[in-house]
Amino acid sequence: MIDIHCHILFGVDDGPQRLEDSIALARALVADGITHIVSTSHILDPALSMERIERGITSLEAEFSGRGIELQLLPGGENHYTLPLEEMRAHTINGGRYLLLEFPHNDLPVSAGELIFSLLSAGLVPIIAHPERNGSLLRNPDLLQPLIEQGALAQLTAASLAGDFGSPVRQCARYMLKKGLVHFIASDAHGADWRVPRMQAGLKQAVKIIGRPAAFKLVNENPRMIIENKVLEYA
Ligand SMILES: [Fe+2]
Repeated sequence: MIDIHCHILFGVDDGPQRLEDSIALARALVADGITHIVSTSHILDPALSMERIERGITSLEAEFSGRGIELQLLPGGENHYTLPLEEMRAHTINGGRYLLLEFPHNDLPVSAGELIFSLLSAGLVPIIAHPERNGSLLRNPDLLQPLIEQGALAQLTAASLAGDFGSPVRQCARYMLKKGLVHFIASDAHGADWRVPRMQAGLKQAVKIIGRPAAFKLVNENPRMIIENKVLEYA
């Protein structure tokens, strides 16, 4: 599986704090069936530079290969919605047109549609991170639909489908999946002990809801199109 949302770098956000924590997380990701991850540390203001991210990836790759951990790392970031557009452009997934976009936890900003319009006009495609965990969308999941119709994509967190964030989040994730409003399932893993990778568990639930081919597409084919910067066709 290809995981487009993962906090693997240590000492930069609320993910791993030390090298050993990143190594433990990498082992947990591999054990969960993940072969590739996009490193998506939180990009806030002041932004974590892409040079810093790439340096972190290079050093982790060396640590992983020295330990026989087979996990491919690709650069990216979880872009806070308040960042200037040029910062978001600097933190796309694997240097392509797609970027992971983080809205505030409680509310969907009134400017969400405008932001998506600005990004698309600038040739960037936002992927809304875990809409099922946003307060406004949790109360009214149908608010996601116009954003998707505008051209944004959406990523469910596997642990939400598995029920780790409680029943309302799980129900919301199921609803969005059934309505065809999401394009990816990702781990959003932060560690081997807390916010652990739950891709297998999430995928299992997705298979029950939308069937095996459609569910596997969300963890394999669709993420591959993103890391290869290809146009994702969806109905
Ligand atoms: Fe995240």
